Amino acid sequence: MTEDLNQMRDHMLTAIAAASGLDALDACRVEALGKQGTITLLLKTLGKMTPEERLVQGPQIQGLREAVANGIAERKATLERAALDARLASETLDMTLPADATPAGTIHPVSQVMDELAEIFADLGFAVATGPEIETDWHNFTALNIPETHPARAMHDTFYLQQGIDAKAAGTADEKTTFSLLRTHTSPVQIRTMLSQKPPIRIIAPGRTYRSDSDATHTPMFHQVEGLVIDKGITLGHLKWTLETFVKAFFERDDIVLRLRPSYFPFTEPSVEIDVGYTLVKGKRVVGGAEPDGWLEILGSGMVHRKVIEACGLDPDEWQGFAFGCGIDRLAMLKYGMDDLRPFFDGDIRWLKHYGFSSLDVPTLSGGVGA
Ligand code: PHE
Repeated sequence: MTEDLNQMRDHMLTAIAAASGLDALDACRVEALGKQGTITLLLKTLGKMTPEERLVQGPQIQGLREAVANGIAERKATLERAALDARLASETLDMTLPADATPAGTIHPVSQVMDELAEIFADLGFAVATGPEIETDWHNFTALNIPETHPARAMHDTFYLQQGIDAKAAGTADEKTTFSLLRTHTSPVQIRTMLSQKPPIRIIAPGRTYRSDSDATHTPMFHQVEGLVIDKGITLGHLKWTLETFVKAFFERDDIVLRLRPSYFPFTEPSVEIDVGYTLVKGKRVVGGAEPDGWLEILGSGMVHRKVIEACGLDPDEWQGFAFGCGIDRLAMLKYGMDDLRPFFDGDIRWLKHYGFSSLDVPTLSGGVGA
């Protein structure tokens, strides 16, 4: 019997060593260790043996199983290494060769749209403001009239940071100074701007935002642009005109129809959701058209809430304003006809070649912001 097992082991190990690929190796595995494999069946015979027999046979059969399993694992590692080496050899790039053309990189559509936004709003007298992506609870929520118990907090799918959680547990967290989360929107830049600048204020704030959400139209990191105007005697009319002017310039057509829908945000009152009319062209939704076939929601906005103005140390009876927040990735998708958001952030050079822009193609109002 021992002789048989030794023979069997040699035979199997030879077959394993000779396996020329992962498929062949897997066939060896199934033959020896699969459900009906030779060794599996041998292991099953242990149950029917006398205790004396088992004492002798058990370790031998287990030893065989171990030797074969190890042989398979080793061969697998060798084959995988060889496959990787072959791939590395065939995909090599000689970095020392001189470039045969101008650089192949392109401007990402998100960067392009951000440049377009800056250009359009600069023309309306807006400066570009920024804020940190790692924020405090106070700037991201509380100062925006979203107190700790507000349901809107749960709706934001916030990524909280361990340092904030720890500080809270230790009772040392100061919500104004503990950077405890990834900002869920660009609205905290409203707060930072009002705290650091004297009104009148006119800014846009483009940048990265984060929410725990992922599908074809949501990624955990995405981009928004915030707009904020604080001045005297500002009304909803100013908001409507500004957004209409922006959307017309952005989509480069005059036959844009906006629909203002009553909505709710804790930091604006009243709040308005803005839809833009689209027309169907060969079954595809194209923004624009005097008589829309339907509506696409493009941004949230409203008159800045008194409490927000107060939280920033300003007198709401003296200063009023409007604010809006808009998804940049969605704007890019609508303007440049992409229907999946995920490839935006894959860093695949083929996608960038197809959808990217020439670095020499700086958007200008006179030359066309999207040309
Ligand atoms: N911050 C809001 C959001 O992310 C958008 C918004 C900004 C609404 C400013 C009104 C005013 O959904």
